[in-house]
Parts: sequence; C-alpha cells; structure tokens
Amino acid sequence: MSWPQVRILPGALSVEALLEMAHAGNRDERPLEIHQGKTSAIDVSESVIARLRAAGCVFAEDEAALLVEAAVTPEQLEALVMRRVAGEPLEVIVGWAEFCGLRIVVEPGVFVPRYRTQFLVQLALRLARPDSVVVDLCCGTGAMAAAVHAALPTADVYAADLDPAEVRCARRNLPPARVFEGDLYDALPAGLRGRVDILMVNAPYVPTDEIRMMPTEARDHEALVALDGGSDGLDIQRRVAAEARQWLASGGHLLIETSVRQSPATRAAFEAAGLVTSVEHSDDYDSTVVIGRKS
Ligand SMILES: C[S@@+](CC[C@H](N)C(=O)[O-])C[C@H]1O[C@@H](n2cnc3c(N)ncnc32)[C@H](O)[C@@H]1O
Repeated sequence: MSWPQVRILPGALSVEALLEMAHAGNRDERPLEIHQGKTSAIDVSESVIARLRAAGCVFAEDEAALLVEAAVTPEQLEALVMRRVAGEPLEVIVGWAEFCGLRIVVEPGVFVPRYRTQFLVQLALRLARPDSVVVDLCCGTGAMAAAVHAALPTADVYAADLDPAEVRCARRNLPPARVFEGDLYDALPAGLRGRVDILMVNAPYVPTDEIRMMPTEARDHEALVALDGGSDGLDIQRRVAAEARQWLASGGHLLIETSVRQSPATRAAFEAAGLVTSVEHSDDYDSTVVIGRKS
C-alpha cells in the first residue's frame, strides 16, 4: 500500500525570505522573477500585502508570500489576489492547508482542516499503539488520518466521509483504497467491526441556527453538510456515539471534537452509549475533545 507523498512543511515562507531569494538572483523558478526589472519584487509584494490588508486579511504578509509562491506569471498572481480579496479561503486558492506539519491537499468546496483539530490528533497518538487500527470518520480532506499515518506509519489507518467531494480530496491525501464513501459506519468495510482501536471524529457540530453567524469563508465556501450539526449541533455526534461500541475493539477509544459549551451534551451521548468518558481541553489549541473508552 503506497501512501501519497504528503509534503512536510519547512516552516512558512516569509515575504522577507522570498525577497531575499529574489535579490540573491535565485529567480529561476520563483514567481518574483516574472517582474524582470519592470516592477521590483519589493513593489509587488508590498502592493499585494496592502491589497490583502485592505480586504481585512489579518496575516497579510504571510498570505502574500503564499500567493506569490503559488503564482507562476504576473497574470496568475493577479488572479489569485483577486480571489483572496473576494473572500475565497487562502487554502483553497493555494490548494493546500498546513496540518500537523503536513501540506494537506484542499480542493474547492471541501472543509478546510482547522488548527484546533490538531489537538484531537495529539490525543489520538497518545492512545494509539504502533499496530493500532485507526479510523477517521467524517474525514473531510483526511487530514487527521494523514497526520496519524505520518506520526505512526505502522498503524492501520482508514477514513470515510459522506460527501463525494471530500472523498475525492481525501483520496489525494491518503491511499485511495483506504478512503470509503457513505453515511457514517455504513461506509466502512464490515471487517473493521469490533476491531477499531482509535475512532477519530470531527463531525459537523454547529447548531443550524448559528451557521449564519459563521465567517463568510465557511458559509460561502464549505458545504452545509460539513457544518450543520442539527438543532443543537449534536445530531451526528449522537449517531456516532450510539454505534461506536459495535465498531470499537475492547479497550478502544472514540474521540470527538466538540465545543466547551456542547461538551456536557457530547459527553452525555457517550455515556448513554455505554462508554467510559473523559473530557480534554487545550487552551493553546482552543479545542475540546470528548474521549470514550469501550471497557
Ligand atoms: C467539520 S467537517 C470535518 C472534516 C475533517 N474531519 C476535518 O477535521 O478536517 C465534517 C465532515 O463530516 C462529513 N459528514 C457530514 N455528515 C456525515 C455523515 N452522515 N457521514 C459521514 N460523513 C459526514 C462532512 O462531509 C465533512 O467532511
């Protein structure tokens, strides 16, 4: 089984670093070379930064560097800047998101993996053994599965999602044969029943009424099925918890990302499903995860 070569990030490329490269004459494959003396690299970067800042991008310098890196011609750079200024997520424009130090492929319309979800991966890796069977249910791009594989290559990792667009994208981040399409557990091979050691789930958990308050980047560019968790946000979580014991191995763990506010209800769903439950929170990641163990 060969895993896609997910690029490990050397650290974000700063505008300063780009300019240094341009000034050092290292222009062969760099986008800044395209200006060929007509407009200096400094002018271009500064004008891109200014336009992004005016459009409300908080990290305008970093974003400008990534857009400059992604463009090959001045026309392409202009098109990318215009898309960003119009509100398209940076990750969709450049085609990748950083997650646990990896470059995860992000296609238009898919859910962009969030910084906070790295906390769930950390917790999963604490519980996993080298030979664990690991499932990323509601996988989106498959970022969590890819991160577990990168950290624990001997683990037996699978992923599944309902949305064909997410499945297509996840198949670029994971071996295609490891990614299944369908409604929650229906997607999984029957042979995994009762064998899953780590079940990682970041299901939609935004209450329906609160979706209109989300940033436009999410509302306009991510599918409703990736966001909408029903009236209290926990419809999918409850369904995942209810069936978890059938799929977990003895001693296996279910981990679900939730919010501080929703965590008592998420926890109650785990307890109703017969799991031994705890709640973990990280201020650094601003992330809350409920963990349930099958005793
Ligand atoms: C909040 S996104 C999280 C994606 C990914 N886990 C991540 O953290 O980046 C929720 C995902 O759940 C998927 N989803 C929603 N309902 C589902 C269902 N009934 N069965 C499987 N996947 C579902 C959506 O398509 C979406 O990819």
